[in-house]
Amino acid sequence: MPESDLASPSVDPGRVRELKNREDARFHAEHPRCAELLARGRAVMPNGVPMAWLVGSYHHIPPWVADAQGTRFTDVDGHSYSDFNIADMSMFCGYAPEPLLRAVADRMARGNQFLLPTEDAIDVSEELGRRYGLPKWQYTLSASQANTEAIRVARVVTGRNKILLFDGKYHGHFDQALVERGPDGSLVPEERGLPADVTRQTALVPFNAEAELARALEARDVALVLAEPAMTNNHGLILPQPGFHDALRKLTRETGTLLALDETHTQVVGAGGLTAAWGLTPDLVTLGKSIAGGVPFGAWGMTDAIAEVLNQEKGADGERLQLVATGGTLFGNALSMAAARATMFEILTPEAYANTQRLGECLATGMRAAVERVGLPWHIHHLGPRSGYTFRPEPVRDADEARACSDELLTRLIRIWLANRGVWEAIVGAGPVVSVPAADADVDAYLAGWTELLEALTR
Ligand SMILES: Cc1ncc(COP(=O)(O)O)c(C=O)c1O
Repeated sequence: MPESDLASPSVDPGRVRELKNREDARFHAEHPRCAELLARGRAVMPNGVPMAWLVGSYHHIPPWVADAQGTRFTDVDGHSYSDFNIADMSMFCGYAPEPLLRAVADRMARGNQFLLPTEDAIDVSEELGRRYGLPKWQYTLSASQANTEAIRVARVVTGRNKILLFDGKYHGHFDQALVERGPDGSLVPEERGLPADVTRQTALVPFNAEAELARALEARDVALVLAEPAMTNNHGLILPQPGFHDALRKLTRETGTLLALDETHTQVVGAGGLTAAWGLTPDLVTLGKSIAGGVPFGAWGMTDAIAEVLNQEKGADGERLQLVATGGTLFGNALSMAAARATMFEILTPEAYANTQRLGECLATGMRAAVERVGLPWHIHHLGPRSGYTFRPEPVRDADEARACSDELLTRLIRIWLANRGVWEAIVGAGPVVSVPAADADVDAYLAGWTELLEALTR
């Protein structure tokens, strides 16, 4: 998203820039040790950090982390932050939760990787089946890889090549998912390094647009629709309009297209994510991030009928038949499985979901009250533990609407303002998420910073 020079029409752009310059300068002045590490890192890593793109996420030096506990992390300059981004939802269970520490230490002490199964894999699969209503599961190390494998299996099952995604999606960094609409409306690779013809494998339609979806599936050449049940990777949350999921399921069934729901982010609403909460019936579910407490883990669940193509990999005499392109040496390793088991059975309990839901509600209510008090025409959304802001009065229904009201400078001001007040909310457009160890005091800290900023903006 290009950075706009114009702030949201509801606030004075000059004021946004002035406040942001002031807050950026303060952050730099207060992080000398982080600046030192960044300079040292530049000698050995592009942009000075382990993933070069990371620095694009900030207009300031990244805080180099020293340690973390519960909801908070501390940087090497000694600043402590209440974390509302929780590593883009991957640390929803918080930092260093005791059951995870115990399970990981125990597994490491007894061997962490064998390229052989451990019993935890059965417990984890049974529990995922109970949560998401799908009987068979396979494992990777990330959600991107889970999506990649789900797509490959869908190709085998349907004998088709293409996948269909919704505009504004993010499903990970693999070729077919990194396609967007260019200025003339045709599909283009999103970033450099992707094959130019990657666009031939992907169709893109707006979320909540039933007629366009029907048209795109009509030719019956799409193997899989891969969708988040609610789109979380935009400026503002995009919720399905009433009836959209019914239409999606009906159209995919009618055209012989498989449907995968990516619950990587939305799983935080409760056991079984939005699939369970809304009674959805996908053919596949994909997961990653927080389901193993932040230990690298990805999972994809499927129906028995889909699992058949994997079941058939060994012939009657044990000979290898034509394989489906899945797998990796460390996938489904014993450590990841032990972490997922402890996380689901001991951390992501009904009480934990209830508490994060309650705090998410408090957060959204408090943010909304502050917006109303200063009279800004902004919408505050809420989904389980997550809240966030859209710089227009109504919720957005698709990615075009989200783009039209996005304001990167203002968003970055919100983040640096909060960072200087001990609240961390990174990733453009994500909005704050309450984590499992959070308490009312964390929400109060967010709301204090938020309210102070809105007053400064409108003064
Ligand atoms: C919905 C969704 N799916 C998949 C992914 C990819 O996750 P990972 O980068 O851990 O592979 C993301 C990452 O943000 C995501 O938001």
